[in-house]
Amino acid sequence: MLRCIIVGYGFLGKRLARLIASGALGGVKLVGIASSKGYIYKEDGFLLSDLPDDLQSSSMLRLAPASELINKRIADLLVELTPTNIRDGEPGLSHIRLALEQGMDVVTANKGPIALAYEELMELAEGTGAMLLHEATVGGGIPLISLKNRCLAADELLSIRGILNGTTNYILSRMHFEGMTLDLALKEAQMLGIAERDPTLDLEGVDTALKLVILANSLMSMKKRLSDVKIKGITKITSEAITAAKESGMTIKLIGIADENGLRVAPKLVRLNDPICVHGTLNAVSFNFRILGRLTIIGEGAGESTVSALINDIHEVVKTRMRSNRI
Ligand SMILES: NC(=O)c1ccc[n+]([C@@H]2O[C@H](COP(=O)([O-])OP(=O)(O)OC[C@H]3O[C@@H](n4cnc5c(N)ncnc54)[C@H](OP(=O)(O)O)[C@@H]3O)[C@@H](O)[C@H]2O)c1
Repeated sequence: MLRCIIVGYGFLGKRLARLIASGALGGVKLVGIASSKGYIYKEDGFLLSDLPDDLQSSSMLRLAPASELINKRIADLLVELTPTNIRDGEPGLSHIRLALEQGMDVVTANKGPIALAYEELMELAEGTGAMLLHEATVGGGIPLISLKNRCLAADELLSIRGILNGTTNYILSRMHFEGMTLDLALKEAQMLGIAERDPTLDLEGVDTALKLVILANSLMSMKKRLSDVKIKGITKITSEAITAAKESGMTIKLIGIADENGLRVAPKLVRLNDPICVHGTLNAVSFNFRILGRLTIIGEGAGESTVSALINDIHEVVKTRMRSNRI
């Protein structure tokens, strides 16, 4: 059995913990969980009935940082699900480094460490023979990274063009279809829980840029940083601009592009019949491969569907470690 610890017991962490503890993921047991309050652990594995709503309510809670749990060496796999921090990647970056240094495999949805330190972390993983999988960092449950790495590994990815942020896509869709102003569409998105209370990173295109950096580095072997991306958000898009676009069979979408000219994020006119022209909270990514040509993939880019990316990465670790008789 692969012994797993989850660091970050929020929206994703709780859903994943329930799946593993209920036995829905074959070959894996959950032996530890950490939040910002401390951690709990059980070496023979948590059952569903053992899982607390919040760690504070557990009698097993140890008031110590997640690093102490990682250092206990009771697990083969760390699933890192703490909040994304785009300044220095912490606390996730330290958690991932610590695990990889010990040869512990890592699966994460945390964009910060992967966007800021991809090369360093991959080198560290190679050095200790650990796996580092991060499908859930981009596009929720849409298998963007495994699509390239597993199905199209021999082809060369020449460019990426896509809608990578569901919040801004929801806002632009409401402006297009309902004639709403950006402010009103944003308020509605916040009421529905689609937009954060502070939506700056989404509206200013930074979230899209982070995801573009992750895709460019991991799928196109680029060595880009967030500061290499030319970023323009949607804050200046008016209802009038959307109406004018609509009259010519187009709309405005926040598009991220990675190609031979570099990385950029900006609102662009998109034809309504372009395959990447999806609406609401959907994401769409169009890959251009040297041999295959263009391939567009569409799906929910966040929320519950992200758990699918996490369990598929965990399954990949289980399969690999079983093959090498490590578990
Ligand atoms: N939710 C999505 O749809 C989605 C999709 C793709 C990627 N992601 C990324 O996945 C990660 C997790 O997302 P989420 O929505 O599950 O976040 P969340 O609901 O905000 O949960 C974050 C968890 O991290 C814990 N935490 C914070 N600081 C910590 C520390 N120093 N040590 C240990 N734990 C700490 C929090 O503890 P407390 O409970 O004590 O506050 C909380 O349990 C984020 O990086 C996010 O950007 C999320």
